[in-house]
Amino acid sequence: MKQASNVFYRHPDASVPTAVKAEGNWIIDASGKRYLDASGGAIVVNLGQGRQEVANEVYKQLLHLWYAHPTMFDTKTVEKLAKKLADHAPEGISRFYFMTTGSEAIETAIKLARQVHMAKGRESKWQVISRWKSYHGLSVGALSVAGRTSFRTPYTQMLFSVEHISPPYCLRCSYGLSYPKCDVRCASALEDAILNLGPETVSAFVAETVSGATLAAAVPPTEYWSRISNICKKYDVLLVLDEVMVGMGRTGKWFACEHFGISPDIIVLGKGLSGGSLPLSAIGTKEEHYQAIMAMGGFNHGGTFSHHPVTAAAGLATINILERDNLIERVSKMGRMLKKNLDQALGNHPNVGDIRGIGLLWGVELVENRETLKPFPRGQKITEKLWHMLFKKGVILYKSVGLAGRDGDALVIGPPFTIKPQEIEYLVSTLKDSLTQVLKEF
Ligand SMILES: Cc1ncc(COP(=O)(O)O)c(C=O)c1O
Repeated sequence: MKQASNVFYRHPDASVPTAVKAEGNWIIDASGKRYLDASGGAIVVNLGQGRQEVANEVYKQLLHLWYAHPTMFDTKTVEKLAKKLADHAPEGISRFYFMTTGSEAIETAIKLARQVHMAKGRESKWQVISRWKSYHGLSVGALSVAGRTSFRTPYTQMLFSVEHISPPYCLRCSYGLSYPKCDVRCASALEDAILNLGPETVSAFVAETVSGATLAAAVPPTEYWSRISNICKKYDVLLVLDEVMVGMGRTGKWFACEHFGISPDIIVLGKGLSGGSLPLSAIGTKEEHYQAIMAMGGFNHGGTFSHHPVTAAAGLATINILERDNLIERVSKMGRMLKKNLDQALGNHPNVGDIRGIGLLWGVELVENRETLKPFPRGQKITEKLWHMLFKKGVILYKSVGLAGRDGDALVIGPPFTIKPQEIEYLVSTLKDSLTQVLKEF
C-alpha cells in the first residue's frame, strides 16, 4: 500500500511503479526502466504515445474553445469528427453521439434502442439480451449487460434484469457441440431467448463483435453474425455491436463487423477512438433511427461532457493519422507476423490450449492439460503470476480470466498498430521464457 498518498488506488499493491514518460510503444518508470506496452494498457493505445499531431490539435482546440454546452452550441470540430466517422462507418451508420467512456456509451446505446422503439410505436419493447462471458464496462448499467461473473457477483442485487445467452466460444462450446456440425447453435440461442421473453418486449441484443477482455480474442464462426443479424431483423430487435475494443482498425478493418458482412443498428466505440490521449467514446446509429427520435422531440439523454470539442479534436487527429499512414493495412500485416511468431514459439506448448485472434488482437489461453483443455484452478492465479513475471521483464500484456466457468486463464496481446517486427520478436520470446519460469514454480 502506498502510505504517503491521497489517491484511492484500485489495488493495495505497493510495488506498482510510477510511470513518468512514454516513447512510442514504450512506457518508462521513475527508475528509468522501460516497458513494451504490448497491450496498449487495456487495448487503447492504437498509435503509440507522444504523437505531436494529436497534441497540437488538442492544444489548438483548448486555446480556441474548450467548452460549449452541447444543447446550447454545436462545434465545427465535433461536426468534422462525426463526418469522418460516417465516411468509414458500417453501411447506413451516419449519426454519432459523443461521450467519454465505453461504459457510458453502452448505457447510451441501450437507452437509444428503447427510445427508437418508443418513437416507432413499439412501446412494449424494453428488454435487453446480451451474452455470458462478455465485457461491456463496470458502471451499474454496463455491468448489468456484461456477463463476467467475477465483476457482477458483489453487485448482483443492484443490477437490472438482462437476459444472457451463451457466447460463440467454440473451444468450450456451452452446448457440447463442435463447429460446423453444431449449425451455430449459439446463434439460434438468441431466437430462443427472444421467444421466451416475448418478442414484443425485446428491445436490443448487445454483444462484442469479437470478444475482448473476457474471452481473450475469441472470433465467432463466419456465419454467426449474419444469423444473429437476421434474427434481430425478424423480431424488430435492435442489434447493438460493442466495438469499444475492436473498432477503429484493431482487427485490420475500420470496424470488426466488416469481416462478417453485417451492419448493426447501433455501434459503440471508445478506447482507440482517441488512442488513449483523452477519454472519448461514441455511439453511431442509422439515419432512420435518428430521424424517428428527432420526430419525437429529441433524445431523452444528456451529459455535461458529451460532444466535447477538445476530445473530438483528439479523435479527429487520431483518425487523420490512421488514414495518412495506412495504419489499418499495417494491422493486418503485423497481425500475421504476430500470429506466426506465437505459433512457432508456443504452438506446441503443453500448457497452451489455444492461440486465436484477428488483426492485432490475439489471445493465448493457458490450460493444465492441452488434450482435455482442463483449465488451471483459478486459485492458482496463473494469469496473474505470468502477467507479473512479464511486467518484471518489461513487457505489458492484458489479463483475461474466467473463460472456463469460474476458472480459465489467458493473456491478451493488443499492441499499438506501429509495433515493429523486432518488438514482436521480443514480446513473444519474453512470453515464452516467462511461461516456462512461472510453470516451473508449480
Ligand atoms: C468491449 C468493451 N466494452 C466496453 C468497455 C468499457 O469501457 P470503459 O472502461 O471506457 O468504460 C470495455 C473496456 O474494456 C470493453 O472492452
